[in-house]
Amino acid sequence: MAQSKPVVVVTRRLPDVIETRMMELFETRLNLSDHAMSQSELIEIAKDADVLVPTVTDRIDSGVLSQAGPNLRLVASFGTGVDHIDLQTARQRGITVTNTPGVLTEDTADMSMALILAVPRRLAEGVRLVRSGEWRGWSPTSMLGHRIWGKRLGIIGMGRIGSAVARRARGFGLSIHYHNRRRVHPDLEAELEATYWESLDQMLARMDIISINCPHTPATYHLLSARRLKLLQPHAYIVNTSRGEVIDENALARMIEKEEIAGAGLDVFEHEPAINPKLLQADNVVLLPHMGSATIEGRIAMGEKVIINIKTFVDGHTPPDRVIESMF
Ligand code: 8YV
Repeated sequence: MAQSKPVVVVTRRLPDVIETRMMELFETRLNLSDHAMSQSELIEIAKDADVLVPTVTDRIDSGVLSQAGPNLRLVASFGTGVDHIDLQTARQRGITVTNTPGVLTEDTADMSMALILAVPRRLAEGVRLVRSGEWRGWSPTSMLGHRIWGKRLGIIGMGRIGSAVARRARGFGLSIHYHNRRRVHPDLEAELEATYWESLDQMLARMDIISINCPHTPATYHLLSARRLKLLQPHAYIVNTSRGEVIDENALARMIEKEEIAGAGLDVFEHEPAINPKLLQADNVVLLPHMGSATIEGRIAMGEKVIINIKTFVDGHTPPDRVIESMF
């Protein structure tokens, strides 16, 4: 006898091939308008879901999880970060959580590297100048930025993405420094010729460029607090493709305004899609709309991981990307 298919509720539009495959495999409900759902909508859709497939724009908090129907057994998130999911409540209610790590490492590292290049070399300012029609031709002293080769890069969070950033950065002549909860394996340190800083404060005070590549957790919320940002040298740049919450955005914006730091490249913000107006006005910042993993290949691979996680779970196995709180 054919078993009934699980009800899988997807909160946002996913690539066509993924949605189509999900429709074949599961009793899938799609969000054709792709609007970001409110808390009350999330509560409503979770009521008769067996599996919920949220993204970073959905706050899967205790309200949603505790009002979900008894059938909800799996939250198969589309994305690597899980800071939008209340993992503790999920565990208490016996709801498994999965994510999609690994497949967006290289794309996100590319975006960090792009920002590391773009900010000191004033790429966005150059584009704006040309497009404004105000460019009056080459001059020996116009649009001078800062050399990247030979500078010190301090990576905060030397996991998959941090290491991928380090590999790229070495090709651009940057020396690699890092701060991480744990020192990485000596082989990786040797490969990257990386210097470990147990003290984040000490590292911050000595770097030319800082790249944030750690997850957002209660321990990393405002890790770059107003106090720590003040440790940066005035010529330092900061790049973030992780989560806005890791930096005190208001404090950073004030420092940018007062030119206490040379510039910033930000793909993520504390209150997306809102951005501190001071940042919007500043010339020496490059602001992107959270597009670190936004490649067609990456998004399809993320979707495939979601499908594999759901399939293994409903077949009674432990899904490959099960998230447990102690991982973070
Ligand atoms: C995704 C991300 O676009 O995977 C993550 O953690 O930040 C992004 O790359 C988004 O989270 C998808 O939900």
